[in-house]
Amino acid sequence: MNFNLSEEHIMIRDAARDFAQNELLPGVIERDDKQEFPHEQVKKMAELGFLGMMVDPKYGGSGLDTISFVIAMEEISKIDASASVIMSVNNSLVCWGLETFGTEEQKQKYLTKLATGEFLGAFCLSEPEAGSDATSQKTTAIDKGDYYLLNGTKNWISNGGTADYYLVIAQTNAKKKHHGINAFIVEKETQGFHVGPKENKLGIRGSDTHSLQFNDVKIPKENRIGNDGFGFKFAMKTLAGGRIGIAAQALGIASGAYELALKYSKVRKSFGTEICNHQAIAFKLADMATQIEAARHLVMKAAWEKDNDKNYDLSGAMAKLYASQVAMDTTIEAVQIHGGNGFVKDYHVERMMRDAKITQIYEGTSEIQKIVISRSILRD
Ligand code: CAA
Repeated sequence: MNFNLSEEHIMIRDAARDFAQNELLPGVIERDDKQEFPHEQVKKMAELGFLGMMVDPKYGGSGLDTISFVIAMEEISKIDASASVIMSVNNSLVCWGLETFGTEEQKQKYLTKLATGEFLGAFCLSEPEAGSDATSQKTTAIDKGDYYLLNGTKNWISNGGTADYYLVIAQTNAKKKHHGINAFIVEKETQGFHVGPKENKLGIRGSDTHSLQFNDVKIPKENRIGNDGFGFKFAMKTLAGGRIGIAAQALGIASGAYELALKYSKVRKSFGTEICNHQAIAFKLADMATQIEAARHLVMKAAWEKDNDKNYDLSGAMAKLYASQVAMDTTIEAVQIHGGNGFVKDYHVERMMRDAKITQIYEGTSEIQKIVISRSILRD
């Protein structure tokens, strides 16, 4: 077993770290405050190949492995979790789903633009009454011969306002339950498609989250992904990989907060010494470092399994469950170590604490991860 990163992985880590320090850090507090989408920064991410990292170069991607993706996700999430969710959704839900299950025509038409970052993608599964219970889709797509007629509402869609292409999951035959669900590619400009107002969120405030409405939207037949009835499996398989991306995001938020707390504890003095010399602080740092290391191992294991064609449903769910808990715990402790300074925006850790919470909610809550994990271990 080899725990060393390859030279290529180190290069990717350093490139992502430089990008995060030079391009994302300036303005991250203001973007959070004003809920500003990082348009310029996303453009640069595209130029660096961060928006289609795992896509085959023949479709405009960087042709890298999942390990590279999680390394970059960790570095970017250390500084700006809003930027990293934009990246994670585009890479692991939209591009991966299209490359793995799309037709050659769909890849040529849509994936090439998404992988280069010329266009952004969104993944639309959640509904007002179907977040965790993904089989209960109320959005319908009725087969009208040479097109489907799409009607319904999707909620909490990341990249909802800025995306150009949307992968939309909808019920095509309610009698068949999850076997009557399909996934479609919907272009933003299609008549009857409306982007609702932006959500005013606790965290990841620089990313744009919207509800979407579909009123008699005509979707050409050729925009269905996979065979009739494949939509639920498509969503489950895609989310299984997406969870590795969010686990890496959680890891990055945790390690970013830990690094700030460590640095602060070496300069802040109380009772005549730097606070890191107090066991109360040193023990917190020891716990944080240990938990982050354990989370990193889980994230890397899941990414490795994906790269090696193994089933990663279990490892991805475990990585997300654990890393998101570590993100929450670590950021709370980082605020505590910063004391009063931790409660004000200039020191970043309060934003990280707010950002951490979503990692326990989206792409399956922690409770959903426990369903996936317990079903898997009880089946084996
Ligand atoms: N891969 C392939 N197939 C899978 C699968 C997987 N990982 N998981 C389930 N399936 C298949 C099953 O084999 C079964 O198929 P058959 O009937 O043919 O055997 C079918 O799907 C139904 O499976 P279940 O009976 O297990 O389904 P369930 O209704 O009990 O639900 C669940 C399982 C795990 C709870 C699922 O509903 C789920 O993951 N829910 C959470 C959804 C979610 O993550 N929502 C977040 C929205 S996306 C988002 O947040 C994006 C963003 O903007 C950042």
